[in-house]
Amino acid sequence: MKKLFLVPAAVLLLSGCQQAEEWTKDLFSSDEPAPQEQENEMEDSGQIDEAQENGESAADEIEENGESADQNEEEVVPPALQLESQFFNEVKTVEGKKVITNPANTLALVNKEFGLSDYKPSDLVRPDVPFVFGSQDLEKAYIRKEAAKALEEMFAAAQKDGLYLTAISGYRSYQYQDMLLKREIKQFGEEKAVKAVAPPGNSEHQSGLAMDISSKSNDFQVSIPFEETPEGKWLKENSYKFGFVLRYPKGKEDITGYQYEPWHFRYVGKEPAKVIFENDWTLEEYFANVKKI
Ligand code: DAL
Ligand code: ZN
Repeated sequence: MKKLFLVPAAVLLLSGCQQAEEWTKDLFSSDEPAPQEQENEMEDSGQIDEAQENGESAADEIEENGESADQNEEEVVPPALQLESQFFNEVKTVEGKKVITNPANTLALVNKEFGLSDYKPSDLVRPDVPFVFGSQDLEKAYIRKEAAKALEEMFAAAQKDGLYLTAISGYRSYQYQDMLLKREIKQFGEEKAVKAVAPPGNSEHQSGLAMDISSKSNDFQVSIPFEETPEGKWLKENSYKFGFVLRYPKGKEDITGYQYEPWHFRYVGKEPAKVIFENDWTLEEYFANVKKI
């Protein structure tokens, strides 16, 4: 039997922009959860004996606290929260920056802490979906093969429901992202820019697994009102079925490090996407909760 992997209480208390990095700190350095100290404290405090005197079973008492009795011993990790080791970031530090050394992992956690250096995916293809720039052969029309297939299925399913999605921006190279951030800083100032545009090397777009999506109903803009459109609502509720997650949700800015982006969808694969959707997690929270097997 495997020990239950718990979110450390300290993680739940984190807030503030700077702490986006804290979320992922140490996630990859240890396989061992540390609930043992809490368990010992509970036994030492005599809570279990008191409960039995009151005619309650130890299990009842502990369940009232939101935990199961078995947790004192060992607990099975639900299959959905077990994740093979190859899906975790492998990281090396280069000039003080954490660089992912297995960037082709479809579950790569790319954020302000973990970057891609100058990685370019080897299997970029152009998905057969409408782009806002038509048939022009632009770098941003590409996405990795597995994600492209899933994107095509998602666009086709939306169309069956009478909704027409438009792809805006997929793969972006290190150099292109660099230009985007500089342009954003010039236009809006650094403080705003860094909440909207990732630094070069740290954008999910560089992984080839992200696509910005909009619709005619939002003038093909990637902007907050997209959330109110039928297309934006459909994506929010259905994208997980195709393996995509809304990567920068509202209310999770301190965790992701970025402003709410109802248009940015990240391919992670169907099973992780379902777990993330059903738990209302970010990718950072997913990795804080899964157990490496
Ligand atoms: N807008 C997202 C954070 C990016 O630039 O990758
Ligand atoms: Zn995006």
